[in-house]
Amino acid sequence: MRAVDIITKTRDKEELSSEEFHFLIENFTSGEIPDYQMAAWAMAVLLNGMTDQEITDLTLAMAASGDQLDLSEFGGNVVDKHSTGGVGDKTTLVVAPIVAACGLPVGKMSGRGLGFSGGTIDKLESIPGFKTDLTTEEFIDQLKNHGIVLTGQSADLAPADGKLYSLRDVTGTVQSIPLIASSVMSKKIAAGADAIALDVKVGRGAFMKTLEEARALAEVMVSIGKLSGRRVIALLSQMDQPLGVAVGNALELKEAIEMLHGQGPEDFHVHCVDLSAYMLLLGNKTDSLDSARQMAQKAIDDGSAWEKFRELVIIQHGDVSFIDQPEKLPQASFVFTVVAEKDGWVSVVDAKEVGESSVVIGAGRAKKGDQIDPAVGIMVRAKIGDKITKGQAVFDVHVNDESAFDTVLEKLKNAVEISDEPVDPPPYFWDVLGIE
Ligand code: URA
Repeated sequence: MRAVDIITKTRDKEELSSEEFHFLIENFTSGEIPDYQMAAWAMAVLLNGMTDQEITDLTLAMAASGDQLDLSEFGGNVVDKHSTGGVGDKTTLVVAPIVAACGLPVGKMSGRGLGFSGGTIDKLESIPGFKTDLTTEEFIDQLKNHGIVLTGQSADLAPADGKLYSLRDVTGTVQSIPLIASSVMSKKIAAGADAIALDVKVGRGAFMKTLEEARALAEVMVSIGKLSGRRVIALLSQMDQPLGVAVGNALELKEAIEMLHGQGPEDFHVHCVDLSAYMLLLGNKTDSLDSARQMAQKAIDDGSAWEKFRELVIIQHGDVSFIDQPEKLPQASFVFTVVAEKDGWVSVVDAKEVGESSVVIGAGRAKKGDQIDPAVGIMVRAKIGDKITKGQAVFDVHVNDESAFDTVLEKLKNAVEISDEPVDPPPYFWDVLGIE
């Protein structure tokens, strides 16, 4: 077998076999197949697409490129979640403790922010000492003893994805449904969970800009999950505007802490309760969505989700006083406000512009390896559908360097549109796929 023959087959829209995918992925992971051949192949996939069978075979080959966790000792009920990436998406920080507090083990490997979308690991690292590089043994022990783990992606799981993703990032080949689906699902399958809730974001601040694209991606991922023996659902959720209010690492952590205490923005609340409910359903904790929602809400109301979060911070060596007294978390030196330029109803709060502005002021990374500032970020004070008057705050911008505000002021002003007519707020979710 030769890599060049595989590239030309995909270029000519001929279907690849499972053996060919294994050859390609194994030899790319070991370095036998050079980056330029893999990049040429990825571009052929981006332009020509792949069949469902091919996407599944690619996913399984990538999942088999490194270690695969065996969580069978947990009786088939470990649940995981994955968001395709958004702005202000601190959901994992709330949903994982809720679900674990309801008695379902949650073992999750999360990523760092890249581009304009944030990452759970960066948010957790706002807590001094919090350890995000657990070994496989630590992961399994903690899951057994505490029922909750939030750690960084292990380099030993699906290494082919790490390598391929970096290559796609610099060769214009990220935006391909087969490549995104196989990237997400190979990591999830290697991480061993039996049930996976996928939060597929749709809109200006997401990879998938339209409902059609998001649905196509979700359908492929649900079908890969089924073919590999996992229970998978996919929620198609709104990402035209940021989720909740806070965008930025410590600010988002504070908002998650408030939510675990039963306070916080309504859209974020509904998002957390619904996603938790679907995870409880997937994990067979109950058989109706209504009762699953009640279980999730009860875990917030009776404080058990908050206690689970504290337990997580303590066992992963974080200084728990920083979440007990969130005013101790990093705080920016200056807060500037962007105000509405006219009266009316908010019709656009562009999540992409807000996310990119947060990167410019230091809350995210322009490229892999950049340092982030946990204290800085943007508080979104107006949401789509809100009635607003001229001079009212739209964004509070938290910065450590006064000049940073000037670099994003125009961008943030342009991120907001105000209509003369009333505007309906968008739905929180567009659809749920994969539920029988
Ligand atoms: N998230 C992933 O894990 N992989 C992609 O390719 C895109 C988003």
